[in-house]
Parts: sequence; structure tokens; C-alpha cells
Amino acid sequence: MTETEVVIVGAGPAGMLLSHLLDAAGLDNVVLERQTRQYVLDRIRAGVLEWGTVETLREAGLGARMDAEGHVHDTINIAWRGEDVLSVDTNELLGRQMMAYGQTRIQEDLYAAADARRAQVVFEAADVALHDLDTDHPSVTYDAGGGTERIGCAFVAGCDGFHGVSRLSIPDSVRTEFEKVYPFGWLGILAETPPLPILLYANHERGFALCSMRNPMLSRYYVQAPMTDSVDDWSDDRFWTELLARLPAGQADRIVTGPSIEKSLAPLRSYVSEPMRWGRLFLAGDAAHIVPPTGAKGLNLAVSDVRYLARALIASDAGDDTYLDGYSDMALRRVWGAVRFSWWMTNLLHRFPDQTAFDQRAQEQELSYLASSESARRSLAEQYVGLPYE
Ligand code: APR
Ligand code: PHB
Repeated sequence: MTETEVVIVGAGPAGMLLSHLLDAAGLDNVVLERQTRQYVLDRIRAGVLEWGTVETLREAGLGARMDAEGHVHDTINIAWRGEDVLSVDTNELLGRQMMAYGQTRIQEDLYAAADARRAQVVFEAADVALHDLDTDHPSVTYDAGGGTERIGCAFVAGCDGFHGVSRLSIPDSVRTEFEKVYPFGWLGILAETPPLPILLYANHERGFALCSMRNPMLSRYYVQAPMTDSVDDWSDDRFWTELLARLPAGQADRIVTGPSIEKSLAPLRSYVSEPMRWGRLFLAGDAAHIVPPTGAKGLNLAVSDVRYLARALIASDAGDDTYLDGYSDMALRRVWGAVRFSWWMTNLLHRFPDQTAFDQRAQEQELSYLASSESARRSLAEQYVGLPYE
């Protein structure tokens, strides 16, 4: 049996950022990832960073490429009533901005940094299992091809996403789940075309649409679609026709179409599992919570969890367990802020199959209030750019 301080399960953004921060503080750790490195890198995920995320990455020495290639922006645009666009300028309202920089890039940056510091990352670790989490010496077993390996440790960080094993290692009797599944998904495409220069969400009678970007020659677009559809139902032609139909003519005219290089249909879900700590196991990121992509919070929450968790583990190593004992409550306060905001944005912008005339009017009124009230826009802006860290 080998020994380390912290075993991190999952080499997604949460696990790799945690490993980076622990290594920087001299805390020995091993990362176990079920997939290959290439598989993790090929996943296409969201791309809007809160400024707190930008600063966390910079402070960790991970900001160079983000600062060179990311696109700073400060306006959230919402198209509604067919032709109108309401703009929420976060810089004007709060003096704060966001950064468009794809999660795929962040994952590449994290792996490059891990190579440079010779981090201990085991890919294709099968059958990861957590043991003795309620003792002061847990261990983790896995199969790396040559039989079962066991690593003893002081703490386990469950950063293994929604389908991981960590959350399920907490007894049912201790765990409470909160869940809302939305009756639609997002069909997303990537295209090597110049993006619309603005981030544009659209509330339209045909359904929600979103125009986003990755870089000056890479666009990311989404349309709301039933989860009963399959990607094969959506030719590029059908996608572009539907996207353009959901945008105001003035914006639709500016869209440059082209062949898609990636296309996927993702479900929308809000989910929280409490608590985020059990014994010596600490959950971070998608392992503990899922938000619908509407508020662009998934990656940002993974980063804030890890920020709290790294601080807690480092303080504990120096003899102070205050942050460790407060981790679950502190992380959940921020998680619920983002969960509520993402749920609200989702309700604001989509057409629900069972939407009544009353619901429809209430949704229009909410948009109308945003258009007419600076206080309402300020509230949206404050949550979109990210609530402060504790
Ligand atoms: N053993 C080892 N690794 C596992 C296991 C397991 N049993 N189960 C899952 N994993 C790995 C996955 O293969 C994945 O690489 O854990 C990793 C989890 O990564 P993500 O799913 O990306 O989750 P996280 O790191 O929390 O990232 C935050 O929020 O909204 C999203 O897009 C955002 O993916 C981002 C996420
Ligand atoms: C994206 O760029 O992929 C993106 C942007 C904003 C969102 C969701 C996804 O709310």
C-alpha cells in the first residue's frame, strides 16, 4: 500500500485544480481518473468564467493563456418579444466583467501544468472504491491493469462528477438529494465561423436560443429541443434555420453559418446532494451538484468549491480544522446561490411544454421588469458575474 495526504478522485477541472493548489502548498496528492487523458480533453463544455474564477486561475499561475486568448466581456444580452434586446452591462452596473474562455482550454492548461510539476495522475483507473471514510485513515483502491492497487491517505476528495462513485460512498441515511429535471434539453453546436460579437440569450415562442463564442473563429450556439429528439434529427441546415428563426432579425442577419464540427444534446437538471462532507470524504464540483447551463455556473461552482476545499486542507495540515469543519456549509451557501439563479434564468428564458397563459404573462412581465428597472438588472448582473467568496 502506498501513502499520500489526499487522494483526489476525478481529473476533470475540479480534481486537477485541487491537485494544483495542494501541490503548490506542498501537500502530497494522487489523482485517479477513470477515463483516458484524451477522453477528458475532448469533452466540450461551457465557457463563461466569473471574475472570481479568472482571479483564482491567475493566482494559481494558470492564467497566461486565458489572458492571451480569452475574450473579456461585460454585457449579457437577452432578446425577447421578437425584436427587442435588453442588455445588462455588468461593468456599468457593478464595475465587474466576465471572461469567455472554454473549459476545454482550462482542462488543457491544467494538464500542461500537471506535466510541468510531475503531478501524480493515474488515468484509466478502473473500479475506484473508497474505504474507511469514517476512520482517520481511509484508503482508495483501483485497478490500473496490473491488479488492485491501494492508496492510504488522510483525506479523499470526491471530484468525480455527477456519475462518480464518491457521492454514492456516503450512506443514504446521511444524504439528502434535491432535484429538478427540466422537460427539454439544449442542442449545441460548435462551428468554425466568426461568432456574434455579443453573448445573446433569446426568449422566443419557438423556444430558447443562445449565441456564444470560444474565439474569433469558433462559435458556440444552442437551441432548446425536446430530449426525445436525437442529434440525428438535427441536420446543420435545420439547426441554423431554427436558430435564426428564434433571433431578432437584426441579430439573425449577422450570424455566419457553416458546417458544425460538434453537435450534442444535453439534458437540463438542477441537483444538489447534501452534505458535501462525510467523515474524511469531501465532495467538490459536479460530484455534489448540477446546474442547468443557463446561468453558466457549472465550472464556476467547481472552482469555488475547490478554492474552499484547498484552503481547508492546507489549514488543517497546519493544525487548524476550522475551514475543514465549515467546508460543507460554506460551499453549500454558494452552491444554493448559483442553483437558485440558474433555475430562475432557466424559467425566465425557456418555453415549457405545460406553460399556461398565466405562466406566459408572468414570464413576459419578468422580462419587462428587467428592461425597465436598473435594480432588476443589477440583481441579475450581480449573480451572473458571481457572488463573492467567503
Ligand atoms: N473513478 C475515477 N474517475 C471518475 C469516476 C470514477 N468512478 N467517475 C467519474 N470520474 C471522472 C470523470 O471521467 C471526469 O473526468 O471524474 C471527472 C469529473 O469531471 P467533470 O464531470 O468535468 O466534473 P468537475 O471536475 O466537477 O467539473 C465541473 O461542471 O458544469 C460542469 O462543465 C462543467 O464539467 C464541468 C463541471
Ligand atoms: C457557452 O459558451 O457554452 C455558454 C455560454 C453561456 C451559457 C451556457 C453556455 O449560459
